[in-house]
This record gives sequence, C-alpha cells and structure tokens, in this order.
Amino acid sequence: MEWNAGLYEKSSALQQKVGLACLELLNPTETDNILDIGCGDGRLSVALAKKARRGKITAIDASQHMIAQASGNALREGIPNARFVCMNALDMPFLREFDVIFSNYALHWIKDQKTLYRKIFDALKPGGRLIASVLSKEGGPPSGTLIAIGFTALLEIAQQERYQPYLDGMSNHPIFNFLTADTTRNLLESAGFSSITLDTRVFIQDFETIDDYIEFDRGTMQVSLINCFPEAMRPEVEQQLTSAMLREWAKIPAEQQEAAMSTSWETLFINASRSIREEK
Ligand SMILES: C[S@@+](CC[C@H](N)C(=O)[O-])C[C@H]1O[C@@H](n2cnc3c(N)ncnc32)[C@H](O)[C@@H]1O
Repeated sequence: MEWNAGLYEKSSALQQKVGLACLELLNPTETDNILDIGCGDGRLSVALAKKARRGKITAIDASQHMIAQASGNALREGIPNARFVCMNALDMPFLREFDVIFSNYALHWIKDQKTLYRKIFDALKPGGRLIASVLSKEGGPPSGTLIAIGFTALLEIAQQERYQPYLDGMSNHPIFNFLTADTTRNLLESAGFSSITLDTRVFIQDFETIDDYIEFDRGTMQVSLINCFPEAMRPEVEQQLTSAMLREWAKIPAEQQEAAMSTSWETLFINASRSIREEK
C-alpha cells in the first residue's frame, strides 16, 4: 500500500497525539529490542529509539514511501539503533525476537486481523508485551459530522458498481468496520495473549475549514481505498471523493458548521503479554 509520506507528515497531528499517549504506556527499558509495526513516517520509532538507546528498533511499514521518509527522519536525528524495513505485517518472519511490539494507529488498516495477531504473538519473546493503539467503535463509528462526511464519501465510491473489479470487498475492510473492545479481546486471546488490558479513550481533533478536513482525509483516511486503483485512475477517484465530501458538507446548515469542525476518535489502547510460562 502506498502513502504520500509528505502529506501524511503534515496531516497527522491526531496520530502524533495518540502515539505519544501510546509511548507513555509502553515506557521501554534502555535495552529493549522493539518492533514498530506500521511505523509510517517514523517519528514515533525515532522517539522509541531515543528511549531504548542501548536496545534496537526494527520499524516496518508496507509503504516504500513511508519507509523512505522514516529512514530520512532517523538519519537527520542521528539515530544509530533503528532500522527501517518495507514489509507487510502479514508477512513478518519474526519468531520470539522482540521484548516489545509497538504499533500506533496502524493495525486497523489490516484486513486479516486473525493472522495479524497470530504473527504479532509469534514475533514476541515469551514474557514480551504488545502495546498498540487502534481505532475502535464501542459507541459506533468515529463520530463528528466531518468524519461521517468522509466515510459517506468513501462508501459511496466503494459501493459503485463500476469500481467493484478493483475493490475486492473493500466495504468489509476494517477501516469501515472498526472493532469493538470485545472482538479485539477475542482476537488477542485466540492468538495466545494473556494479561490483556484494553483501555478506551476519546481524542478530539478540531479542524478550521472543510478544506483542512479534506486534506487530512486525503493524507490518511482515503489511502487504503485509493491504493486499490491503478495509478491512472487515482486522480479521478480522489476528485470524486472530494466532490462527494463537498456535496455532503453543503447539506449542513451554516449555523451548524462551526460545531461540526470538532471530531472525536474513539481509540483502544491494547496492552497484552505473551506469557513467560508457556515454555514449561
Ligand atoms: C495512520 S499510519 C500510522 C503511522 C505511524 N504509526 C504513526 O502513528 O504516525 C498507518 C500506517 O500503517 C501502514 N500499514 C498499513 N497496512 C500495513 C501492513 N499490512 N503492513 C505494514 N504496514 C501497514 C501504512 O503504510 C501506514 O504507514
């Protein structure tokens, strides 16, 4: 999946805010061997590398553009203990390698959640921990009129008949069906995890104009859909998404538009362990 890494870095204030909260939960030791899944532009991997300064960070992402941006960020910061690898999380070959696996706002992009959590479990050392944040939907999908507009536009495209040959069941993608805490717990337990703590928190992000939201949406929410299409069709689909969002926005009465600029993102913080005792 390819991302526009520069646009993402500009439009990911929300992800950074959640990521810092996730890092606090992780609180690594200086020598931890850490895997960051879906590292994006690598700013959080760099922060991890500074904390675990005598340990090692392996940061993976399925997007080559993101890996290039992350490597550049680490180089600029003079980070010696992080490596960045372009890899799909579902193809991870790691077995009992990491003390900690970290992931911020990335796991909900991956459709085969069952395989994903199994792979994460396998990659941990016995006694290792998974600390991750994912979008969840305890109280329904992410709320706020702007988000509803973004999702309406995405679904409108995802359901168009002429696009079906490219979309391969896209409307079942986790981005449209964020999981509840209970479903996530079941997935974690089935993969073998124990000592599971799931903590739901809501993050607010305010936008100033509809154009700011559309920019955010282009840099983040649209990516998995856009990636389904051949390069030549992407500008057309992006244009359709923008038009659909503007159309939906125009339906909101002027006096409600200011309040609609505030969005809230229900986020699940996952803290789960691979038991040290399983090896007996
Ligand atoms: C919203 S970004 C989060 C990036 C970063 N963790 C942050 O907090 O800024 C989601 C990232 O997950 C990556 N991603 C999506 N599916 C993936 C997969 N199957 N394997 C690895 N990375 C994936 C994307 O390429 C993207 O960089």
